[in-house]
Amino acid sequence: MAVQWREHLLQGTSTGQDRKPGRGRGQQGPPMRPHLLKAPPSLPIPTLETELPSRENLWGTYTTQSPSSRTLLTMWEPGAGCERREVQECLQQFQVTRAQLQQIQAGLLDSMEQALRGQANPAPAVRMLPTYVGSTPHGTEQGDFLVLELGATGASLRVLWVTLTGVDGHRVEPRSQEFVIPQEVMLGTGQQLFDFAACCLSEFLDAHPVGNQGLQLGFSFSFPCHQTGLARSTLISWTKGFRCSGVEGQDVVQLLRDAIQRRGASNIDVIAVVNDTVGTMMGCEPGVRPCEVGLVVDTGTNACYMEEARHVAALDEDRGRVCVSVEWGSFGDDGALGPLLTAFDHALDLESLNPHAQRFEKMVGGLYLGELVRLVLSHLAQRGVLFGGSSSPALQSQGSILPEDVAAMEDPSVGAAHVLTILQGLGLSPEVSDVELVRSVCAAVSTRAARLCAAALAAVLARLQRSREQQMLQVTVATGGRVFEWHRRFHSILQETVALLVPECDVSFIPSVDGGGRGVAVVTAVAARLAAHRRLLEETLMPFRLNCEQLAGVQAQMREAMAKGLRGEASSLRMLPTYVRATPDGSERGDFLALDLGGTNFRVLLVRVTEGGVQITNQVYSVPEHVAQGSGQQLFDHIVDCIVDFQRAQGLSGQSLPLGFTFSFPCKQLGLDQGILLNWTKGFNALDCEGRDVVCLLREAIRRRQAVELNVVAIVNDTVGTMMSCGYEDPRCEMGLIVGTGTNACYMEELRNVAGVAGDSGQMCINMEWGAFGDDGSLGSLSTCFDDSVDQASINPGKQRFEKMISGMYLGEIVRHILLHLTSLGVLFRGQQTQRLQTRDIFKTKFLSDIESDSLALRQVRAILEDLGLPVTSDDALMVLEVCQAVSRRAAQLCGAGVAAVVEKIRENRGLEELTVSVGVDGTLYKLHPHFSSLVAATVRQLAPRCTVTFLESEDGSGKGAALVTAVACRLAQTTRV
Ligand code: BG6
Ligand code: GLC
Ligand code: GLC
Repeated sequence: MAVQWREHLLQGTSTGQDRKPGRGRGQQGPPMRPHLLKAPPSLPIPTLETELPSRENLWGTYTTQSPSSRTLLTMWEPGAGCERREVQECLQQFQVTRAQLQQIQAGLLDSMEQALRGQANPAPAVRMLPTYVGSTPHGTEQGDFLVLELGATGASLRVLWVTLTGVDGHRVEPRSQEFVIPQEVMLGTGQQLFDFAACCLSEFLDAHPVGNQGLQLGFSFSFPCHQTGLARSTLISWTKGFRCSGVEGQDVVQLLRDAIQRRGASNIDVIAVVNDTVGTMMGCEPGVRPCEVGLVVDTGTNACYMEEARHVAALDEDRGRVCVSVEWGSFGDDGALGPLLTAFDHALDLESLNPHAQRFEKMVGGLYLGELVRLVLSHLAQRGVLFGGSSSPALQSQGSILPEDVAAMEDPSVGAAHVLTILQGLGLSPEVSDVELVRSVCAAVSTRAARLCAAALAAVLARLQRSREQQMLQVTVATGGRVFEWHRRFHSILQETVALLVPECDVSFIPSVDGGGRGVAVVTAVAARLAAHRRLLEETLMPFRLNCEQLAGVQAQMREAMAKGLRGEASSLRMLPTYVRATPDGSERGDFLALDLGGTNFRVLLVRVTEGGVQITNQVYSVPEHVAQGSGQQLFDHIVDCIVDFQRAQGLSGQSLPLGFTFSFPCKQLGLDQGILLNWTKGFNALDCEGRDVVCLLREAIRRRQAVELNVVAIVNDTVGTMMSCGYEDPRCEMGLIVGTGTNACYMEELRNVAGVAGDSGQMCINMEWGAFGDDGSLGSLSTCFDDSVDQASINPGKQRFEKMISGMYLGEIVRHILLHLTSLGVLFRGQQTQRLQTRDIFKTKFLSDIESDSLALRQVRAILEDLGLPVTSDDALMVLEVCQAVSRRAAQLCGAGVAAVVEKIRENRGLEELTVSVGVDGTLYKLHPHFSSLVAATVRQLAPRCTVTFLESEDGSGKGAALVTAVACRLAQTTRV
């Protein structure tokens, strides 16, 4: 049927060459900025029929109930009855009933909500594309911005220079220039189009010297796009008269940047991309109430509005609002507009660049209004009703009637002579009697467009009302596009129809400023602020981003410090002999007590080593800060109290089991059961302990508490306990690593390399105490001002510098110091320092693990920060995440460089080409952080390519290892001394 109509309508259609020069779409001179027509005298506006009108009662014509108003049809009185019927039949098709409008409103609202929910099947008729605009303008935005507009006004491209003063109501007229895009560019390659745009920019800048330094550009690109950032936007499909190859599926900002680069205009930075509807909405001067809807009817049509973010499934955000571009032009592509489509609509669709797409837009957009009128006039001419039954090549040519012609011809204040001139310009020979009929055709087409547009706007308003949960919605709609400027009636019909369809909404309409250019500049200003913040963030985090060379440097320094330490020379690495000479061989048996002090938890354990394996019973006790930092007596009395409690609970009172003591602090060992505390680390600082044998301190406390004597067989560092514990399962485990509250490593060294311990054969486990690496200043170049602040505020300034860059006790503090700095720069939290953030240790390292978790949405990151009492926006949350990532990444890489140094040393010790080795690891940071372990492994692979390193996470803590060391010692004691 549609095809038949098309053939019928296009009968006698001439080829493109016959087109009247200068009148075809894209060939007419620049569709310069709308030459504003004078407002027409007030015309009666058609009233909406509340009942379904009879076929006779033409909807959309000027029929009214009021006897004083006349219809255009009645103004036109054709002589012959059959001609009249012909015209009526033709125009009747453009009528839309109120019920139909209500259906459109409901259908569109349905599609909008399906799309918001992210429904995939069937695909909703509209796309509802979230933009990166989250708030309406504050009026405080300021600066000078270049704006490039492409796609809003058909075959023209606009460049503007917009100055935002930052002062409400104080406007500076923008400078602007408009360029006509040649048809071959609109239908050419993407590169041609973007090169053309870059060329227009250069021409504008030549003609309007605005300075050469860092020009910030906002790109108004008015086609359906998936936006993934303020300056990242992928074209989904061309609409309106464009069809450039190689652009769909591409980031249009990048294409523009490339073109600007090709032109050598490196001083232009594209920092935001927006749809014309968004520019229209954002350009509104903030009034009594914010403008929350942008409506455009130009060559195409579309609207955007502020939706609650929590309703947008595609967004990772549940707070605040986000501007959504409805892309309502595609409404009806699923057939929903079927009953409303006339034969002319079908013909127009089939001859368009995008058949079957943008069906709603093709009934409303300015690009199509002239074309619909042309098809109707051509049909009527062919039927002998108009122009004496003759047509012209121009009337048969696509695009020969422009929307502004339709506006002019429809306007009763424009004299008949002007209408005749327009028609004559089309090569027609119109009679005066033709004028009124032509007017009524134009009115029918544009009235239908205004009504349909109103129904769509009503759907948006209804959606807004629903999402705001408001009975009575007060809203301001910014309108943009030349159809509003040309067709004054379009606006009044729209307004009246909206009032009828959504009577509960109090809607005011405001025309956009500078054709949306100001709004684009406002968005660009926000983007510029964010970009400046991003630069500051990058600068701040730069020293945390270590390259391969720097890491190799750390590895080399570590090797050097290890060698010196082993030789007994001054070194920040103490390389302490542990008197552990062998990993367990599986023959150990017995019941042992173990203590585990120095990590997050203090534990007392009962370890049963049997043929069937190792069974552990343990109890966690707290060590309050006042005890950890009180007197030595207090601390060791507390430890003994816990042991006594444990023995009682386990029915072990009175027994003296062999005891292994994991004591995770640097100790100079003179034997397995003797350890002189060199200095406290981490949060411990109990008085009168440094320089004393820890085993003696424990025995003294036992005496004070009159508890049963304990048989302390071994004192081991947690790294050693961890290595032994994992070594029980895997004999290749020759290194122990802790990344928890503190960090440290131990490994099996050749005894011949260890100065100060007798013997040249065999091996001994060395506690490196690598937390102190760099305390001689060798890490200076890597240390940032934030590391220095954390160090200075710690209880041991200048000490454990490597540990303070890596371990859980300090990473949260480093992050907190960076956040304070970024807040002082105004980059975070709107520059407002909160008391909470000033509080030491408020930002736990656990938060880094939580925040960096891949499964966490940004909204959850926000929730974590808000629980901390920090007033965060999504931008803040993203930046905090990046800070955490930079800090934990550096920590993991430094740790990896340390492991690489150790495994390479083991390989070289043994004169091996390749080494296969396992590392036993423990510590909450290593175990809980989502990326730490893989980053350590990746760094080791990079820096020690000849070593195959397997990381084994310790399951049972180092207490098990301490018991195993004790068991080995007991076994060997029966034969020889350990
Ligand atoms: C535990 C070990 O599992 O890990 C302790 O049993 C060790 O000996 C601790 O000190 C290290 O991790 P964190 O995170 O508790 O300091
Ligand atoms: C088309 C575009 C849309 C634009 C509208 C008005 O419908 O797809 O993005 O907003 O035209 O220019
Ligand atoms: C600290 C201690 C060290 C321990 C490490 C991990 O660095 O000095 O002995 O191994 O923390 O707990």
